[in-house]
Amino acid sequence: MAENYGNDDKSALQAKTDAQKIAFAPIMFQAAKALRDFGILSFLRKNKDGKTTEEIAQEAKISNYGATVLLEAGLSLEMIMLKDGKYFLTKTGYFIIADKLTRVNMDFTHDVNYKGFYHLQEAIKKGKPTGLHKEFGNWATVYEALAEMPEKFRESWFGFDHYYSDDSFPQVMPVVFQNNPKKIMDVGGNTGKFALKCAEYNKDVQVTILDLPGQLNDANKNIKEKGFENRIQGHPINLLDFSKPYPKGYDVIWMSQFLDCFSEEEVVNLISNAHDAMDEHTELFIMETLWDKQRFEASTYSLHATSLYFTCIANGNSRMYHFENMKRLTEEAGLRVVEVFEDIGVSHTIMRCKK
Ligand SMILES: C[S@@+](CC[C@H](N)C(=O)[O-])C[C@H]1O[C@@H](n2cnc3c(N)ncnc32)[C@H](O)[C@@H]1O
Repeated sequence: MAENYGNDDKSALQAKTDAQKIAFAPIMFQAAKALRDFGILSFLRKNKDGKTTEEIAQEAKISNYGATVLLEAGLSLEMIMLKDGKYFLTKTGYFIIADKLTRVNMDFTHDVNYKGFYHLQEAIKKGKPTGLHKEFGNWATVYEALAEMPEKFRESWFGFDHYYSDDSFPQVMPVVFQNNPKKIMDVGGNTGKFALKCAEYNKDVQVTILDLPGQLNDANKNIKEKGFENRIQGHPINLLDFSKPYPKGYDVIWMSQFLDCFSEEEVVNLISNAHDAMDEHTELFIMETLWDKQRFEASTYSLHATSLYFTCIANGNSRMYHFENMKRLTEEAGLRVVEVFEDIGVSHTIMRCKK
């Protein structure tokens, strides 16, 4: 648990202003997305001398009325400025249109979460992913559903997941390979991106991916495409069936953006199963976005929001963890955290654990 976080130093006026931003957030989010998707922000980005409402409406192929309401919302969102009857892009508007991190987060919010979040309160009361159930179907978790989800959902889900982990890989490889592992097990290896990076990085290493059959179908396609079938294998398994042991004989066990998909009790069981597959020299690396280990306010904000995706859409019981929580759970499963690597990629921490 975090001991201290936040303050209450704002003026009452500022606090009331911020309260209105929260009150209208879903409406203004859709306005920002429309300004982006109708091409209005990129039009203003190209036209630094500004454009009128009529010119913008014509470019976006919408009515003057439609352009007016969106542009006026854009003023309050501070994405757009109005000077002498012409609209201009601001720095915030620039990030909405040009920054990949922001795009990935907005698409994830819209395509994966938006509709389901109407049901957040019920999800919290029941401890079930009610947003998933009411809007998409009655799967126990989103992971079982991924292979069958609408294309937009899949695109934005994978875009979000991969954006954060891909960016970490260049820093991750020297950490994972520091003791020259010959066999790596990637638990929750998803579409095989990490396994492929390992196989490209080291010409001898063998990698086994543990994941659900649906994800392994995608992984197998990618592995075949890159010609690594002889060094990367899939091992289909429901990891929530704790009676199923993990295969043994690995030098490294890798869990990236994986344990946040599970409740505290499940995390202990998953690490315990890894523990049972380890010998004295095996290393378990846990790579997570821990919310207290962030350099930027925006990262912590994003992680607190992402925790609620787990509540409402993913499984109803997991979250982005605090470092001390994750350390405690690792120790409960019988392992020691022997080294911590911070500031990996956009927002990751790696914990190296041993028996
Ligand atoms: C958030 S993704 C992380 C993927 C990847 N490790 C990364 O860093 O991008 C979590 C992965 O855990 C897998 N997973 C979740 N629940 C599972 C279960 N019960 N059994 C097997 N795999 C599971 C999902 O299918 C998914 O591939």
